[in-house]
Amino acid sequence: MGLLSVIGMAHGWVRQRVQPGDAVVDATLGTGVDARFLAELVGPRGSLIGFDIQQEAILRTRQRLEPLTAEGKLPERTSLLLRSHSELADAVPQELHGRLAAVMFNLGYLPGADPSVITLPATTLPAMQAALQLLRPGGILACVLYPGHIGGEEEADEVLRWASSLPQEQAQAAVYRMAQKPSAPYALGIEARKG
Ligand SMILES: C[S@@+](CC[C@H](N)C(=O)[O-])C[C@H]1O[C@@H](n2cnc3c(N)ncnc32)[C@H](O)[C@@H]1O
Repeated sequence: MGLLSVIGMAHGWVRQRVQPGDAVVDATLGTGVDARFLAELVGPRGSLIGFDIQQEAILRTRQRLEPLTAEGKLPERTSLLLRSHSELADAVPQELHGRLAAVMFNLGYLPGADPSVITLPATTLPAMQAALQLLRPGGILACVLYPGHIGGEEEADEVLRWASSLPQEQAQAAVYRMAQKPSAPYALGIEARKG
């Protein structure tokens, strides 16, 4: 049968905590798989805000959401932003601060595009810190980390160090990884405890 995949685990953490009508963020749109997953969870009455620094990711996500648009099932407040996730706190409307149900990060590079355009700790860490502040109590920051590419291991180590240092009264952090595959992607889940 096999264990749940790393992405399956990240999606599972999110699915358990997100209801129709909720507000969620995809901090790294990429090919739009996570955005579509989030859009289906929050449904037409929900809010989805997505970030990517590459136009191609915005286009690929829009295409991936197209069937939902055609069926009138796209969250009514959907914004796909060509902006860095380090601008998260400014870009998320004030009325949603402290109310987000989930923020997803899927780090690394856009498959099929320039592999040198990668997420970087200098922007990833402030974005995650901001995400934690924007989540509602019980909301989840779900992240997939990729130690296998150049720069990926340093970023994953820094993110893990940051997550391990969070005060337990602020957040609870868990890691899911394949023990015999140290360079394989792994998932980090951080549940917000208070705003
Ligand atoms: C592994 S992909 C994301 C996969 C995606 N969630 C999916 O479902 O296909 C990583 C993405 O992060 C984007 N990225 C890199 N730096 C970023 C930043 N500072 N802000 C937002 N997105 C960034 C890349 O352009 C790339 O599209």
